[in-house]
Amino acid sequence: MDFVLPHLLFLLILLPIISIAQNNGNVTIGNSLTATDNSIPWLSPSGDFAFGFHPLDQADLFLLSIWFDKIPDKTIVWYAKLDNPAPRGSKVELTADDGLVLTGPQGDELWRPDSIIGTVANGVMSNTGNFVLQDSNFSKLWESFNNPTDTLLPSQNMDIGGMLSSRQSETHFPKGRFQLRLIGDGNLVLNTINLPTNNPSEAYYTSGTSDSVTSNPGKQLVFNQSGDIYILRDNNQKLSLRQVKLESAAEFYLRATLNFDGVFTLYSYPKNSNANGSWTPIWSVPDNICVENVVLTGSGTCGYNSICTLGSDQRPICTCPKGYSLLDPNDQYGSCKPDFIQGCEEDKLSTGKDLYSFQVLTNTYWPNSDYAFLKPYTEDQCSKSCMEDCMCAVAVFRDGDSCFKKKLPLSNGRVDNSITGGKAYMKIRNNTSITLPNRCLPIPETKKKNHDNLILLWSVLFAGSLFVNIILIVAICVGAFFIYHKKLNRPTRNFNAMEVNLRCFTYQELVEATDGFKEELGKGAFGVVYKGTIEMGSTVPVAVKKLNSSFQDYEREFKTEVNVIGQTHHKNLVRQRGFCDEGLHRLLVYEFLSNGTLASFLFGDLKPSWNQRIQIAVGIARGLLYLHEECNTQIIHCDIKPQNILLDDNYNARISDFGLAKLLIMNQSKTHTNIRGTKGYVAPEWFRNMPITPKVDVYSYGVMLLEIICCRKSVEMETIEEEKAILTDWAYDCYREEALDALVEYNVEELDDKGKLERYVMVAIWCIQEDPSLRPTMRRVTQMLEGVVEVLVPPCPFLFSRTG
Ligand SMILES: *[C@@H]1O[C@H](CO)[C@@H](O)[C@H](O)[C@H]1NC(C)=O
Ligand SMILES: *[C@@H]1O[C@H](CO)[C@@H](O)[C@H](O)[C@H]1NC(C)=O
Ligand SMILES: *[C@@H]1O[C@H](CO)[C@@H](O)[C@H](O)[C@H]1NC(C)=O
Ligand SMILES: *[C@@H]1O[C@H](CO)[C@@H](O)[C@H](O)[C@H]1NC(C)=O
Ligand SMILES: *[C@@H]1O[C@H](CO)[C@@H](O)[C@H](O)[C@H]1NC(C)=O
Ligand SMILES: *[C@@H]1O[C@H](CO)[C@@H](O)[C@H](O)[C@H]1NC(C)=O
Repeated sequence: MDFVLPHLLFLLILLPIISIAQNNGNVTIGNSLTATDNSIPWLSPSGDFAFGFHPLDQADLFLLSIWFDKIPDKTIVWYAKLDNPAPRGSKVELTADDGLVLTGPQGDELWRPDSIIGTVANGVMSNTGNFVLQDSNFSKLWESFNNPTDTLLPSQNMDIGGMLSSRQSETHFPKGRFQLRLIGDGNLVLNTINLPTNNPSEAYYTSGTSDSVTSNPGKQLVFNQSGDIYILRDNNQKLSLRQVKLESAAEFYLRATLNFDGVFTLYSYPKNSNANGSWTPIWSVPDNICVENVVLTGSGTCGYNSICTLGSDQRPICTCPKGYSLLDPNDQYGSCKPDFIQGCEEDKLSTGKDLYSFQVLTNTYWPNSDYAFLKPYTEDQCSKSCMEDCMCAVAVFRDGDSCFKKKLPLSNGRVDNSITGGKAYMKIRNNTSITLPNRCLPIPETKKKNHDNLILLWSVLFAGSLFVNIILIVAICVGAFFIYHKKLNRPTRNFNAMEVNLRCFTYQELVEATDGFKEELGKGAFGVVYKGTIEMGSTVPVAVKKLNSSFQDYEREFKTEVNVIGQTHHKNLVRQRGFCDEGLHRLLVYEFLSNGTLASFLFGDLKPSWNQRIQIAVGIARGLLYLHEECNTQIIHCDIKPQNILLDDNYNARISDFGLAKLLIMNQSKTHTNIRGTKGYVAPEWFRNMPITPKVDVYSYGVMLLEIICCRKSVEMETIEEEKAILTDWAYDCYREEALDALVEYNVEELDDKGKLERYVMVAIWCIQEDPSLRPTMRRVTQMLEGVVEVLVPPCPFLFSRTG
């Protein structure tokens, strides 16, 4: 028995290979494939093509596809169009009624071919690369050739209405931005679409066979066995597209692919190359996609603000201009964002005049994006006018007297060598940060004296001796080191979900819990939150957060982080009840809090009482202190703002969304270019080349504390006088001029408690110091709020940026 069993198993595994290889590509009803690493595909009789699950770069995901099986990299020529790839364990089965049915590991249907009329008798993986479903009379009910993706193979033709659609990138198969279509008037066109809709932009290539220009319009795009590509006209004349002659087409594999970057290319690959060959481009359209693709709506060939240069193989190269970087670091062909903030508001708030410098580019052009055309104008006038105009992103001077001013986002950027003498002046912000003029006047005498006295006191206490002071400083440092060290050595246990009492939900359970994600509670930076109920002994209301797709790449980190979040227990943090981690579905389940967000509480119609607000401010500080210092792993929130603070039945503040920012900054920690957080609450170090520490939360807390004190938003441009628009500045002005009553709009409740009011404002000013090292820790903040330690006179918070 021991002996026979392995052999039997071996035979069972081998059986399908043998049967399919001998069956001329014939796949019978009931046959199925499962997405695993060693699943054996359905092969064509020659073995050139295979139909099955192709493993993707992302772990545990597979693409149902057809590929060249004898080529080492298994080039894909057709794939099932799915929103998400199939997870490991998915299954495709040939059935009589529906042809092919692709189901996920849980049996949920992921895909099936549309429009099958009749009963399927069998499937055939043919030697041309066409997968056909046929009935008992051998008539074709469905074929992959009539449902192309981004590639045509020899003998695969395209009729009017037919379309190729590019993928997102070489290795990502969701729908991309480019299309090749034979449209109703007989024209073959290439165009971009405005994702996520299919709304096409202007074509950047046309074959010129539309019925409006010829009495003989096109009716079919033909790609024949000799590798010729032509348009068959109504009168059966041919308009040849491919001029190059290919010797002995039979010795090459051929494919014509609409590349993810919009170039339609015919490739050849020598069949007998002993694993040494490569796909060689032998023809492509358009000739210069950078110059020929100009759209009014949409970004053009590259993303917004990106500049297109033509590579040697007629393929575009997209690069971000200096001072700009990729919005998605993994998408080289995507949009670029400025690494600085540009806007009239920001410019107005800045000191000095040398805010920007120019990068001068020659032969670079943006045909659209103009908002002003100045003529006649000199080159000097042109650059100067852009420099002084807060709307202007780039000025192009050309033809000796023409000045085009352009605004963001720039589209259709390209290097165009046919433009001679043109110059583009691109504005890049200097390394100065935004500061306010005249903010930092000397502190009034009375306060200064107070400050001096304190310093004096310190000096007296420490005996005024330099030596003693040095000893003291050393002692403090050594002490601090030991405390820090102790913290590092604190045992960190590796919890798993069970130990921390988190429930692991299936996606289906959460679909039911939220009634199909029916009631939306809010949208955050990380995803959408829905209301639901779960059974935990009794029916418990919960908030279910569906994390957005940017979390998909962080599989291991997600698990770690969920455990970290799960271990946090504090009365000022929102409790996590469970999570779901199923394929692409990442969800977090939190307790539901009835009283909404601090934002709606503070900025609503009714002004909440001073005592309630104080209680909330202290609660948030304690919650942050816990995250920074008291839980097993230090958690930096990165997005502290009133929208992320929830209120429970007793109006206790509860911090939400903690622990998630880390997942998103992990990969970016070296560059610091991706700013997490929300404008107005973001600490200045995000904009500078400085490490991100818990002090970013202290900064945001300071801004929010002022909002709690004043019951207004940190930035209010429309409704308030100019000098009050930026709360941090206004608060400091009021403090400096001892006009706190103006800050709280002469409210009796606050003014009756003037000592506490002043203390809270001072704490807030300490927190919003632009120099992170001056900001107190959250421990210090709680002590100051509670009146346990004295609050010193804060320095001007804006000083740092004037020199930096
Ligand atoms: C496919 O295989 C099935 C079962 O082996 C057989 O009945 C059928 O005739 C075959 N069809 C073709 C076209 O070879
Ligand atoms: C096959 O062809 C015969 C004769 O033309 C016809 O009677 C029959 O209905 C056809 N079967 C299918 C499945 O189309
Ligand atoms: C392909 O088309 C070209 C141009 O019309 C023609 O010369 C050639 O014979 C065709 N080849 C095949 C295999 O039909
Ligand atoms: C691969 O190509 C190189 C150069 O064309 C050749 O020298 C080498 O023998 C080839 N290797 C194989 C395995 O064909
Ligand atoms: C900004 O940069 C330009 C060019 O590098 C320089 O001339 C100017 O002085 C800079 N301004 C500041 C404030 O650094
Ligand atoms: C700005 O500062 C950073 C780091 O201090 C430096 O790498 C960069 O080159 C500076 N940029 C400009 C335009 O001076």
